[in-house]
Amino acid sequence: MSRKALIIDCDPGVDDAVALFLALASPEDLEILAVTTAAGNVDATLTARNARLIRQLAGREDVPVYAGAAVPLVREPIAAAHFHGESGLGTLPVFEPAAPVAPGHAAGAIVELVMGRPAGSVAMAVTGPMTNLALALRLEPALAARLGTVVVMGGARREGGNITASAEYNIYADPHAADVVFRSGVSCVVLGLDATHQLRATPERLARIAAIDTVAARSVATLIGFSSDIERRLVGGDSPPMHDPSTIAYLLAPDLFTAVPVDLRVETTSPLTAGHTAVEFRLDAAAASVAPIRWVTQVDHAAVFDLIYERLAR
Ligand code: RIB
Ligand code: CA
Repeated sequence: MSRKALIIDCDPGVDDAVALFLALASPEDLEILAVTTAAGNVDATLTARNARLIRQLAGREDVPVYAGAAVPLVREPIAAAHFHGESGLGTLPVFEPAAPVAPGHAAGAIVELVMGRPAGSVAMAVTGPMTNLALALRLEPALAARLGTVVVMGGARREGGNITASAEYNIYADPHAADVVFRSGVSCVVLGLDATHQLRATPERLARIAAIDTVAARSVATLIGFSSDIERRLVGGDSPPMHDPSTIAYLLAPDLFTAVPVDLRVETTSPLTAGHTAVEFRLDAAAASVAPIRWVTQVDHAAVFDLIYERLAR
C-alpha cells in the first residue's frame, strides 16, 4: 500500500481515541497531516484536549491538532457523554497535554492542507459530526474537487438508528453538515452502523488487546473496557461496536471491506427523522459508475482485529 496523506476529523470520544491510536501507530502507511476536532460526544474544548492527550500517549506530538466547530451548522448541540463519560475518554486517566493546539480553525486548516497538495492526494477520515468539513467546503468550494477519498463513520440503513429510531449519532448531531458533504460531489466511503455493528470488541478480543504490553494497547484496553461496561448497562450485550476505528482500518486495508455505490440523502427537517440517511442501492449501471458515494455492506471483522492487534503491539 502506498503511504496515504490523511486528515482525521473527530470528536474524541472513546472510539475516536481508539481510531487515533490505530492511525498514529501506522506512520509507514499514513502521513497524518493533522487531527482536527469538533464538538460532538463532548464539547469542543474537551475534544481538542482529548486529541492532544491521545497524541501525547501515542508519542506523536509531530502531528498538529486543530480545534474546530463548537456548534453544529444549524441545530442545537447534542452531546453523548453517557456513552463516553464526562471527560470523553471513559475511565482513561486524563491530564493537561504538554503540546497545545495549532493556531487557526480546523476548517481553515483542512482547506490549506488539501489545496496545498496535488488533487486527490489527501484523504480524510471523519469520525464525528461533519461540521468542520462542511465549513471547509463552504470556505473553499474548489475543495470538493481537490479532496481525495473521505472515509466517513456515519449513518444507518439496515441497522436503524442508535440515537433515535432512525438516525445514527454523527449524522443526527449535525444533519445539515452531512447534507452539505454528501451533496458536494466529494468521493465518500461511508461506514454506517450496517458496517460497524459487524466489528465488535468481544470479551475475547478485549482480553487479547489487554495482554499486549504497550502504552497504546493498555490505553485502548481501558477505553474499550469502559465501552463494554456501557454496552452492558445501556444497550445489552458485552461487545461494543468499533465504530470509528473502522475508518482507519478501511484506509489501512480496504480489501477487508465490501462497498457498493449508492445514492445517499440526509433528512434535515423532520423532527421525527432528522439525521436519517436514506441509502438507495438501486442504481442503474450508468448512475452506479459515477456515484461519488459508496456504502460499506460487509466487514472481515476477524482480519480487522488482527490488524488492530498488530498495530497496537508496535
Ligand atoms: O454512532 C457512533 C458515532 O457516534 C461514533 O463516532 C461515536 O464516537 C459517536 O460520535
Ligand atoms: Ca466519534
